[in-house]
Amino acid sequence: MEQRDKWATKLGLILAMAGNAIGLGNFWRFPYQLASNGGGAFMIPYLFALFFLGIPVMWIEWTIGRYGGKYGHGTLGPMFYLMSRESLKPKSALWFGVLGGLLGFSVSSLLSSYYYQIIGWSAAYTWYSLTGAYFGQDTYKFFVGYISNTSAVLFFWALTMVLLGIAVGQGVSKGIERWVKVMMPALYVFAIILVVRALTLGSPVKPEWSAIGGLSYIWTPNFSALSKNFFKIALAAAGQIFFTLSLGMGIIHNYASYLGPEDDVALSGLATVSLNEFAEVILGGSLAIPIAFAYLGPEKAIKSGVGLAYMSLPNVFMHMPAGRIFGAFWFLLLWFAGFTSAIATYNYLVAMLEEDVHIDRKKGTWMVFVWLFILGLPIALDKTLLVLTDMDMWVGSYFLVLLGFFDIVVGLWLFKPDNFWEELHKGAFINVPGWFKPIMLYIAPIYMLILLAGNTWNYAKGGVFTLSQAYMQDLVKNQALVSTTIGYAKHAVTVARGMIFIVIIIGAIEAYLAIKKKYGEELEKNEVIIKL
Ligand code: TRP
Repeated sequence: MEQRDKWATKLGLILAMAGNAIGLGNFWRFPYQLASNGGGAFMIPYLFALFFLGIPVMWIEWTIGRYGGKYGHGTLGPMFYLMSRESLKPKSALWFGVLGGLLGFSVSSLLSSYYYQIIGWSAAYTWYSLTGAYFGQDTYKFFVGYISNTSAVLFFWALTMVLLGIAVGQGVSKGIERWVKVMMPALYVFAIILVVRALTLGSPVKPEWSAIGGLSYIWTPNFSALSKNFFKIALAAAGQIFFTLSLGMGIIHNYASYLGPEDDVALSGLATVSLNEFAEVILGGSLAIPIAFAYLGPEKAIKSGVGLAYMSLPNVFMHMPAGRIFGAFWFLLLWFAGFTSAIATYNYLVAMLEEDVHIDRKKGTWMVFVWLFILGLPIALDKTLLVLTDMDMWVGSYFLVLLGFFDIVVGLWLFKPDNFWEELHKGAFINVPGWFKPIMLYIAPIYMLILLAGNTWNYAKGGVFTLSQAYMQDLVKNQALVSTTIGYAKHAVTVARGMIFIVIIIGAIEAYLAIKKKYGEELEKNEVIIKL
């Protein structure tokens, strides 16, 4: 077997994993989830999901990834195939491999297609903050103007993609690891500077709007909102846990595949969770909303989606002393956070080409560049952002949770719980308490099934599948960035769903062929031959 790249240092590995998990989800998505889902009361289902879903699945993904790496694989297709063989004949295991492969490929491709756009916006807004371009303007109109300015959007997106390509093209230890060792400490510094600024803002507009007031506003538990919308809020909390920890994406597996077979996963997995949660709950929770609150007050501060980061905050920076600098810090923070996450999905796709088709890394990097460019183009050109919205809905609520569910089916049930437990503890720096086993085996997967059923129920009720008249009207009226028609919205949704369909098919075929090629002999005989 050829020599695989490996993480050079423990610190580099942990920073890479933290960089993977800490993303736009922490600084942008979390605050408005918290604010719009009952404030402090959101933290109850959130912490519950962290414990029963986040931590178990994090350990499982590290374990599956390191196992796959032993056999030279960094993608889910072959990983799921190899593990399923413990209980199934190769010919049946192949189907779990195909399933894993298509999920991993789809998530990496589709998530990147829109998430890279948002990172590109952050690059643009870093520049616009430094130059004061939006100062004195209506920030909503400015944002619409930016999104409609196709050449600017393409420029900042392509710039981000080229830098991603350079980092990934240099390899895991020589590229990704070196980049995160600079970017992650910088990210923490930016975040801490901004938190200090946020908490010392006082009350520039109205005394009762101080940043501290903003903190107490989002953190005061609204139990009546929680109990009224319990199911909806619990779904949002679990979804946030998946997204922020990068679970159900294939990219934790991928990073863990560059470990040695005896390198610790138990403590390292927990460290990843802790670093992410610190960045999310402490730093992310003390930034965007308190700053916006101090200047704009409760009504205008609590905006969801792109509104908070790209419209409310710019509106604050333009009135703040040294606002250009703080604005640049904020958007650079988003850019760094997004970038170090985006590297992971990029690397997943490059690893796939490297390992399955033996294309060398440099060439693979540019092939992935072209692939992600093609996928991102319809989103970059869509001024309404409806393609992005629809795509995010499917990827966020289905793909991640499905992938996480099959992590357990394959990594625990088919691989067999005792094998898994042994694998998890190989070289481990800590012992995972035995009572975690039933949580992983039963509670987490049931949790995920409820999530899937809940999302399906909500979507069915909301007319998302059938594109009901009411749903389309809502898209046009409330979800579209600019005014548009139902005809256009239908078109946008069709493009998003068509892309998802095509990507799934390609992912399935790729995984099928890759596993056949590598394990053809044992599939032929239907007996396991290759074993470590
Ligand atoms: N955990 C990331 C976040 O909080 C999500 C993420 C990681 C991601 N890697 C990604 C999203 C790659 C898109 C592409 O933002």
